[in-house]
Amino acid sequence: MADTPRDQWKSKLGFILAASGSAIGLGNIVFFSANAYKYGAGAFYVPYLIALFLLGIPVMIMELGIGHRAQRAYPEAMYRIGGIKGEWIGWFGLLNASVITMYYITILGWVLGMWIGAFGSLWEPQAVPAFDLPSGTLSNSMSYFFDMISKFETVAYVVIVWILNAAIVWSGTKSIERAVKVFVPLMWIFMIVLIFRGITLPDGPQGIMLLFTPDFEVMKDFEVWQGAFSQIFFTLSLGFGIMATYASYLPKKSDQSSNALTISFMNCAFEYIAGLAIFAILFAFAIVPKASTLSMTFFVLPEGIGSFPVGVQLFGIMFFTLLLTAGLTSSVSLVEALAAGVIDKFNLPRKTVVLIVSAIGVIGSVMFALPMVIDPGLAGNGTLGLTLLDFFDHWAFSYGLLICGLLECLLVGWVLGPEKLRESINPHAKIKVGPIFDWMIKVVIPAVILVILGFSIKNEMSGDGLYGGTTETGTMQNLHVLVLAGWLVFTILGAMALTAAGGFRRRSDAGGDSDV
Ligand code: TRP
Repeated sequence: MADTPRDQWKSKLGFILAASGSAIGLGNIVFFSANAYKYGAGAFYVPYLIALFLLGIPVMIMELGIGHRAQRAYPEAMYRIGGIKGEWIGWFGLLNASVITMYYITILGWVLGMWIGAFGSLWEPQAVPAFDLPSGTLSNSMSYFFDMISKFETVAYVVIVWILNAAIVWSGTKSIERAVKVFVPLMWIFMIVLIFRGITLPDGPQGIMLLFTPDFEVMKDFEVWQGAFSQIFFTLSLGFGIMATYASYLPKKSDQSSNALTISFMNCAFEYIAGLAIFAILFAFAIVPKASTLSMTFFVLPEGIGSFPVGVQLFGIMFFTLLLTAGLTSSVSLVEALAAGVIDKFNLPRKTVVLIVSAIGVIGSVMFALPMVIDPGLAGNGTLGLTLLDFFDHWAFSYGLLICGLLECLLVGWVLGPEKLRESINPHAKIKVGPIFDWMIKVVIPAVILVILGFSIKNEMSGDGLYGGTTETGTMQNLHVLVLAGWLVFTILGAMALTAAGGFRRRSDAGGDSDV
């Protein structure tokens, strides 16, 4: 059977907008600043930059190369490299991505709820009946947020965000290109406006100074490095074959080394300037955030904006619009990669697959939006959904991402041979990828990831990891174990089942490496 006609980006610009839109997301705007703040602001930049050059750029070149070379979605591209084992790694990556997709979209649902609030009630004190908290106990944004997530209306927000995602991937690259051409420029503009607002605040520039004052003492702390390396994978959308999928829609002649550099630098530039705006706002109002990323998004920054001398509503709406547009262009890349994997494997019509993937995704995202209050004292997380989100995030973000990146490097490094990837990239590349790339992929990056994973596991065992909380009740511990088991079964066994299913291997055109 002949190859199904494959989608292609209409222009190079379309691809760059889509890929940088995938990379630039909640990770750049809030997670980066929360991490930077947690690890001593200026101190974070050095490990972060090292992570970018050591891990980020080589893995970006590798992922773009994998997709571009095979011109098929991730699992099939990986099959062509390493047979059944390769395909399993592909699905394992995509299933980990789907866990992140589900809660990423839940967070976007909350952002939508906050966006609605920004027109009015977000800026006023309110009671949180579900937690038995009278008006004025919590800050305005905190009470708005907890009231919102303790109600079933959040489920509607989550469903709306899923519908938006399905609509954007509905016609593949065509509809994605249309959306990113509007959203990506818009989020740059909003970000730049917020920076100007930030630096013109009375103490704003002092916050920015802090970002540029490296503190070498903190760099002795291993955790800073761990934070920087996970952040690079997450922010560049690496490890799960997302970039490979986007690159599979590029023409054979396209230049992957310059694409990799463009996407990586655009992403990190955005992250830096977002840091400027956020640190300025933090310091202008002397807010000391507890560094959790979600509290940064939903409490700390809205509180800062709420203290602006003028234009609270306007800047609040702008901030949440920024998060929504940036988040949507990221979540669609996750949904697209999953859909593309299923489409290419089972040769099903795109629209059917988008509907199936979205239906399953909605169930997952709604689970993270469940309002049942499990911690009225607010000592922990509050609702059942938020608690589940925290646990799943822990396994998929801190472990899934790095494990997938590791397996990917090992497969390309030792089964395919990175020189083969260079041979397919270099003929079309202005900047040639040199032999040092081979050693990065084969040895350096896997070694670095292994050290970080080893450190994380050690932390976990010693009680400094997720299980560190000493106040935990029996139910919470059971929930932890249940989530860990759920994550393992879903990703490991799910990937086995998907690999075992017939699909493209029954088609005569899907050979091993020889036909590529
Ligand atoms: N990079 C996005 C952000 O910074 C999130 C994201 C999109 C992602 N696709 C991904 C993270 C794939 C990991 C893997 O918000």
